[in-house]
Amino acid sequence: MTLLSIGLTNFRCFAVKNLEFGNNLNIIHGSNAVGKTSLLEAVHVLGLTKSNRTNNDQEMVKQGTDYFSVKGNFGNGEIKDTVAVYYSEKGKQIKKNNEVFKSLGEYIGYFNVVSFAPSDLISFFGMPGKRRREFDMAFCQLSKQFLYWSTVYNRLLKERNVLLKTLAFGTDDKAKKLLEVIDQRLVEAGKNVIQDRLRFLKQLNSILNGIHKQIAEQEDLTIKYQGSCSLDNFERSLKTNLDYDIKKGLSSIGPHRDNFVLTINEQDLCIYGSQGQKRNAVLSLKLAFVELIYRIKGEYPILLLDDVFSELDQTRQNQLIKTLNQNVQTIITTATLSDIDKELVAKAKLIELIKGGGNRDPK
Ligand SMILES: Nc1ncnc2c1ncn2[C@@H]1O[C@H](COP(=O)(O)OP(=O)(O)O)[C@@H](O)[C@H]1O
Ligand SMILES: [Mg+2]
Repeated sequence: MTLLSIGLTNFRCFAVKNLEFGNNLNIIHGSNAVGKTSLLEAVHVLGLTKSNRTNNDQEMVKQGTDYFSVKGNFGNGEIKDTVAVYYSEKGKQIKKNNEVFKSLGEYIGYFNVVSFAPSDLISFFGMPGKRRREFDMAFCQLSKQFLYWSTVYNRLLKERNVLLKTLAFGTDDKAKKLLEVIDQRLVEAGKNVIQDRLRFLKQLNSILNGIHKQIAEQEDLTIKYQGSCSLDNFERSLKTNLDYDIKKGLSSIGPHRDNFVLTINEQDLCIYGSQGQKRNAVLSLKLAFVELIYRIKGEYPILLLDDVFSELDQTRQNQLIKTLNQNVQTIITTATLSDIDKELVAKAKLIELIKGGGNRDPK
């Protein structure tokens, strides 16, 4: 499915903005703060109903207004479906044509998105939570079952943590019984989450190394899953850690504490990677997500690359260009068009953003 056009209302710096996209490569250019990153974010919201930059939907509402909407027209050549995401303080609504979806779970998978921004690298290689979010976001697009178990797990985890705080005030038989019930269900949901993550990771790793070798021949890039406990011992570990968890008022083991570790030649990139290695590794990872989504869903996602070319030297740019699949609809942003290879610019649909909102569209 191709994203033909997008319409924004009260989204970030845009009061009203309409743009058309080409089937293959699109380059959005314009000076700083004209809204290039915000436009990519809007496309992400269309696919996942969530931002790739923030967990707080309210941040996307244009200051001084009280709602935003993002509309996208999809199809091959002509419009087949219109998807709209509407958000106000009262909540979020997703609509495809006249069908209203109550939850992300019902909608997800219609239109897949993979995004990469070098400015996210610091947080990506920081706390494990950011990496879990990135991997889980990709895996949710691959499997509604994974999204279901993740949602169930997170809900149970919240309930468990509330109970732990109650138990910190003294033994309460009712609370203890309830904790046993929650833990049983938590283990079931948690095991499903971990098993799916491991399954997808195996498939991802089999694609990733080949992609990365095209950029860095000598580097074996692999993602390792570092569990906070072993899968078989999950239930037992919950019991063993209970006193500690009650003292801390939170759950110290489970998939919400597991880590995705990126390694090059068996070395943890978080610790030993150079800036350039980290950037290339994550770029390879995102391209591997694109391929994995294609293999599982039979359709390529849209690829959003925010300001990648300013940081890549010519050789790396050429390698990336070769790797960019002709069949993948891609949107690249840049402040300086001259940073991007001329041949690539010639092939692309150019979209210029100008401060104040108007856009010129030469093709
Ligand atoms: N909720 C909001 N309401 C109004 N303006 C916003 C909001 N969020 C961000 N902005 C502004 O939008 C502008 C565009 O940001 P951005 O998309 O990051 O631009 P670019 O990527 O082109 O540099 C910035 O000036 C930023 O301050
Ligand atoms: Mg930007």
